[in-house]
Amino acid sequence: MTGFTVPGGHAEYVVAAAEATVPIPDTLPDELAAPMMCAGYTAWSALIAAAPQEGERVAVLGIGGVGHLAVQFAKACGLETVAVTRSAHKHDLVRELGADAVVGSGAELLAAGGADVVLVTGSSYTAATDCLPACGRTGGWCWPGSTPPARSPSRRVWPGRSSPSGSR
Ligand SMILES: NC(=O)c1ccc[n+]([C@@H]2O[C@H](COP(=O)([O-])OP(=O)(O)OC[C@H]3O[C@@H](n4cnc5c(N)ncnc54)[C@H](OP(=O)(O)O)[C@@H]3O)[C@@H](O)[C@H]2O)c1
Repeated sequence: MTGFTVPGGHAEYVVAAAEATVPIPDTLPDELAAPMMCAGYTAWSALIAAAPQEGERVAVLGIGGVGHLAVQFAKACGLETVAVTRSAHKHDLVRELGADAVVGSGAELLAAGGADVVLVTGSSYTAATDCLPACGRTGGWCWPGSTPPARSPSRRVWPGRSSPSGSR
């Protein structure tokens, strides 16, 4: 991974293993392709790691750089998608991005039926643990290698069948 396991990346040209590259269509503007390289991959790999099944419900906690893409990816995969945001001004936007429902907290998510998968974006431990009681199966955590949470959720917080997975 550039910047982690090999140096470089902040250059116009870089040598990379072919299998680690993705061709960008000529029709896709650079400014739209660029966010996919970091925020997009982080959101996508979390979704893949959580492996939601057809008919399952995915909640995305935090509608920021990673979260607004996670909502679009989950919806594009045909999954029922719930946005969890503490920012009221994001409600209309996140619905436009494809969220089927928008709630403001873990308690509201639980009251709305919970979710099979919770993709935690942002690095707030408090916000994450607030949501986990509403998580049915898997927590797909988007936390970057540079800022892992200092603590793991306790067994009291995790529902019995839940398990965390990482993304970067
Ligand atoms: N952006 C990237 O390219 C990228 C790539 C890889 C990894 N990461 C990592 O992924 C994480 C998220 O990055 P981001 O770019 O999406 O950040 P961001 O744009 O700041 O979004 C994080 C969202 O989390 C929520 N949030 C923030 N602080 C909170 C708090 N104290 N309590 C509750 N909710 C809070 C907010 O969402 P609401 O307003 O909706 O509540 C906020 O918009 C970071 O740790 C970052 O280092 C980012």
